[in-house]
Order: sequence, then structure tokens, then C-alpha cells
Amino acid sequence: MSQARLIYGGKEYELSVVEGSEGEKGVDIQNLRRDSGLVTLDPGYGNTASCESAITFIDGEKGILHYRGYPIDQVATRARFTEVCYLLIYGERPTPEQLADFRARMTKHTLLHEDMKKFYEGYPPGAHPMAIMAAMVASLSTFYPDTEEELERNIIRVLAKSKTLAAFAFKKSIGHPFIYPRNDLSWPANFLRMMFAVPAEDYEVPKVYEEAMNMLLILHADHEQNCSTSTMRMVGSSEANLFASISAAICGLWGPRHGGANQAVIEMLEQIQAAGGDYETFLDKVKKGEDGVRLMGFGHRVYKNFDPRAKLLKEQADAIFEKMGIHDPLLDLAKRIEERALSDEYFIKRKLYPNVDFYSGIIYRAMGIPTEMFTVMFVLGRLPGWIAHWMEQRNDPKGYRIHRPRQIYTGATLREFEDRGTLLL
Ligand code: CMC
Repeated sequence: MSQARLIYGGKEYELSVVEGSEGEKGVDIQNLRRDSGLVTLDPGYGNTASCESAITFIDGEKGILHYRGYPIDQVATRARFTEVCYLLIYGERPTPEQLADFRARMTKHTLLHEDMKKFYEGYPPGAHPMAIMAAMVASLSTFYPDTEEELERNIIRVLAKSKTLAAFAFKKSIGHPFIYPRNDLSWPANFLRMMFAVPAEDYEVPKVYEEAMNMLLILHADHEQNCSTSTMRMVGSSEANLFASISAAICGLWGPRHGGANQAVIEMLEQIQAAGGDYETFLDKVKKGEDGVRLMGFGHRVYKNFDPRAKLLKEQADAIFEKMGIHDPLLDLAKRIEERALSDEYFIKRKLYPNVDFYSGIIYRAMGIPTEMFTVMFVLGRLPGWIAHWMEQRNDPKGYRIHRPRQIYTGATLREFEDRGTLLL
């Protein structure tokens, strides 16, 4: 193990350097405060490894993403989402028998307790489906006990029921009756049918949508210590139950800088389109930082070259539009903006490239999924990643401590709180 040296206040401190399996190195500062009285300051944790993890590897400089060692382009084009759930959570690809068993259990648990349907009645028609998802997933903990014996089943339950919860949220928003799951269908087809079938008509999920959705789910399945996954670990570190931790992660994902960006991208493209398609003026505004406006779907904390997921999604978007014989002017607009931004000094200098959210919304839109549901689609994909991290932390042979960062206090120093008598307000 190599060492790093810190010299401070005339003293020298030896800090061990930890190395990961792909050569990433980190200075272990766990005892720094105890030994030197110092803490580290890293707002937004851009330079902090909050844990050791064996689930997902990202090399942001090279645009590399691996799930359990497998490159994302191979997984996204060769696997089914169910297999990826297994791979992420249990660490290895399932054998055909294990996969069949896993799939059967996932399918068996897709139904919601009938009492949960009543919760949907209380929401106003315009309720955002992310709020419904967070509340519904937390509510699962009122139906299923948080015991060691039930944990394995609870993992399956939340993976299986989440798509039913999401489709019901959509049906509620348009005032249509709920469509129950059909267990002979694949994960994506089952979901799309619950979204778009109506009792009065037959509905067959177009194969191209099923395939696209499978890929979208896989591409979103994990992304190491992002905001929502870190939330999952943080809440889990207090020993909150699985459903409660996922509910918190859903809220973490909601914001436009994270999973909410897919909704924000479409809204941004629609606004530019409505203003006559003048993206140059919009980009000027972005570059001047006017009103804090950003080019949504661009930039990433880790990727500084390209986001491999965005590359796959751009190809997927083209394939879908061609196969379905549809044309969406927003796709053309997005491509023009991408081309323009990639040759602009502002974006080049800051290493800003399209991320996974730049094209995902355009594909969801083509499938008929409403904009407000986009971030829910992200939830459905990210669930196995969240669960894998929660389990990894829980089963860490070295144990884990409650997440409790330090701070550098900058407020008022000690002052007297004067007694003003016994005035009651
Ligand atoms: N448009 C314009 N400028 C940007 C953008 C953008 N999308 N993203 C970053 N910048 C600028 C930022 O203003 C700053 O410039 P300066 O140095 O002059 O102050 C510089 O680039 C660095 O930005 P940062 O905010 O320090 O970068 P970060 O690593 O903290 O933020 C990000 C990463 C993803 C939050 C940010 O790039 C962003 O807000 N992007 C738009 C939202 C988005 O698409 N989010 C989805 C991320 S991918 C899906 C997911 O996993 O959530």
C-alpha cells in the first residue's frame, strides 16, 4: 500500500492510499481528524469517495461505464432488464435456471394490494407522478414487514410492483381505469400495456417500443454514487427500511439537475420550438448565464469526454423513428443544438457533452409517454442500482457507519442570549 504525506502545523502525517481494481486511487483520511484535528472540505463531494463499491465502474475521461465489469454497450444490446437487475443486485449473471426463477418471482409480485388503489383516489388530477411514486413506495412498508426474513421478498416486491405503481399513477392522471399486469409479458411490455391499454380494446405493445424500453431501463440501471444513490446509501445507513430508503432516493432523483433533466430537456426544446426554433439566441443566454439558464441534458459531474449512454440513445432514437415511420421535429432540433454546442468554445472549454437525458425524453415522447412521467421512467430503471448499493452497504464485511459528514462552521461566534423578560407572544 502506498502512502501520501500531509504536512501541517510543523507535523507530518502519513495517509495510506487505497487502490481500486481499475487503478483508481484515493487517500484514506478516516483518521485525519483524530490525528491532526483537520477535516477535509469538499462541497458537492466532487473529490470524495464515500465508499468502496464493486458494482459499477465509470472512467469519465474515457467515457467508460461497466456494470459488474461488463461494458454498457454489450449489456444494453444483449441483455434483458430482468437479467441486469439480477446482475447488479447479486453480483453475477444468473444461470438460465436462476433467471427463470427470478423472473417468475418478479412476475408473481406485480399486483398491488387492493387497498393501495384507494390511495390514488386522494391525489388531485394534476399530481406529479414522482410525488405519487415516492409516497407509494414508502407506503409499501406499511403492507410488508421490515424483517430479515422478508428482505429478499421485499426486494422482489418493489422491483415488481414499481411498474404497476407507475402505470397506475399515469392512469389516475388521465382519469382512466387501472389496467392490471399480465404476467406472460416481458417487463417492458407488461409496463407499456398497463400504461396504454384500455378495457374496451385489444392492445399489443409494438415490438420496437418494447426493445427501446428494455434498453432505456438498462442504460439507467446504475451509475455509482450519484445524488439519488448516495441518498439511498445515506438513508440506509441510519438503518431505515428498504422502501423508506428507495422513497428518499426517488425524491433525490426528482430535481432537474439529476433525473428530472429528461423532463426539463423536452420542456426546453418545446420552448425553443415555440419561439420559432431560434436555438442560437437560447445558447447565447446559456453562455451568458442569464437567469441561471443551462442547456439541459448537457454536462456531467463525471463524464468529461462523452456519456456512452447518450451515444447509444441517439442511435436508438434514430432507429425507432425510422422503424415507426415517425418524424419528430424536436429530434432534429436536439441534433442541431448538439452539433452547435459541441463546436462552441463555451461548451468545449467546460467539457460539456450530451448526457443520458438529452435523447431519452425524445424516445419516451415517441412512445406516447407524457413528459411528467419521464423521471418516473428513470426511477424504474434505477431501482436495481439503488437496491444493489443498499445491499452492498448493508452486507459490507467491514461494517458501515451512519453517514454523518462534518462541516466548517462559518456562523456567529459565541454571544449572549439576553433575557428580555417573560413576554409571551
Ligand atoms: N449548460 C450550461 N453550462 C453548464 C452546464 C449546462 N448544462 N452544465 C455545467 N455548466 C457550466 C457551469 O455553469 C460551470 O461554468 P463556470 O465554470 O463558468 O461557472 C461549469 O460548466 C461547471 O459546472 P458545474 O455546475 O460545476 O458542474 P457539476 O459537475 O457540478 O454539475 C450537472 C453537473 C449535471 C449538474 C450540470 O452539468 C447540469 O446542471 N447539467 C444540466 C442538467 C442535466 O442535464 N442533468 C442530468 C445529468 S445526467 C443524468 C443523471 O445522472 O442525473
